[in-house]
Amino acid sequence: MIIPPLPDPIIQSDYENVYNPSDDSYLIIDYFKRKINRNYFDGIKLNKIKKILDVGTGTGIVAIFFQLIKMGNPNFNPEIYASDILEDSIKCVRLNEKRNKINNQIKLINSDLFKSFPEKLKHSFNIIIFNPPYLPSSSLIKEYLNKKKIDFSWDGGLKGYELLIDFLTSAKIFLNLKKEHAIYCITSSRTNLIELNKLITNLGYKNRIVDKKHIFFEDIILNRLKNSLG
Ligand SMILES: C[S@@+](CC[C@H](N)C(=O)[O-])C[C@H]1O[C@@H](n2cnc3c(N)ncnc32)[C@H](O)[C@@H]1O
Repeated sequence: MIIPPLPDPIIQSDYENVYNPSDDSYLIIDYFKRKINRNYFDGIKLNKIKKILDVGTGTGIVAIFFQLIKMGNPNFNPEIYASDILEDSIKCVRLNEKRNKINNQIKLINSDLFKSFPEKLKHSFNIIIFNPPYLPSSSLIKEYLNKKKIDFSWDGGLKGYELLIDFLTSAKIFLNLKKEHAIYCITSSRTNLIELNKLITNLGYKNRIVDKKHIFFEDIILNRLKNSLG
C-alpha cells in the first residue's frame, strides 16, 4: 500500500477561461495531504467513503489528486465525480487526466451547481468540495456588462457569497446525511463572514475552520461543514 507523500497532479489550463490553480486550490490540496493517511480521510475511515464530488472543478486539480490517491491505496476506492458550469473546464479535466495517466476515470458533469445532476446521485456523496468563485462582483458587471466566462472563476455574487449559499442549499440533497459526510469550501475575508456564517448556521450546518492563509489583501479560509444534526 502506498503511503504519504501524497501525489502532486500534473495540471495545465488549456483554455483561457479555465481557472489556473492558485493559492486557494493548494490550500485544499495541502490540507488533504496532511489529513489523509493509510486508514483515514480527515477522521473518516477510508473504506466508508464511496463517492466524492469536486464542484467547480476548473482544471480538475482536486478531483485528479483524489483519483491519484485512489490508485495508490486499495482501502480507498470511492467514485470520483467532478462538475463545472463551463464546458471548457470539462474538456480540460479530460486533458489533465491524460497527463496523469488516468484516462476517463473521473465522472464529469457539466452543470450549473446541481441543476443537471441525475436524480440517482441524490443522497449519495460522502464528501463534497467546492472552491467557489468567492469575490463580490462589481455592480457594474451585474447591471451593464455581460458576464464573461472567466468571471465564473471569481464572481460569487454581489456580496461574494450568494453562489456559495445556493450551493450549500442544494448540497444537502446530494450529501449522504445518513453516513459520515463533510463539505469542504473556501471563503474569503473580503466578504462579510459574520453574515455568511449566520446564513450557514441557518441552513443547518456546523462549520469549522480547518485552515487559512493570508495573501496580499485577504485571508482565504478552508471550512469543513457537516449537517448540524449529524
Ligand atoms: C475559483 S475556481 C476553482 C477551480 C478549481 N476547483 C481549483 O480549485 O483550482 C471556481 C470554479 O467554479 C466554477 N463555477 C462557477 N460558477 C459555477 C456554477 N454555478 N456551477 C458550477 N461551477 C461553477 C468556475 O467555472 C470555476 O471553475
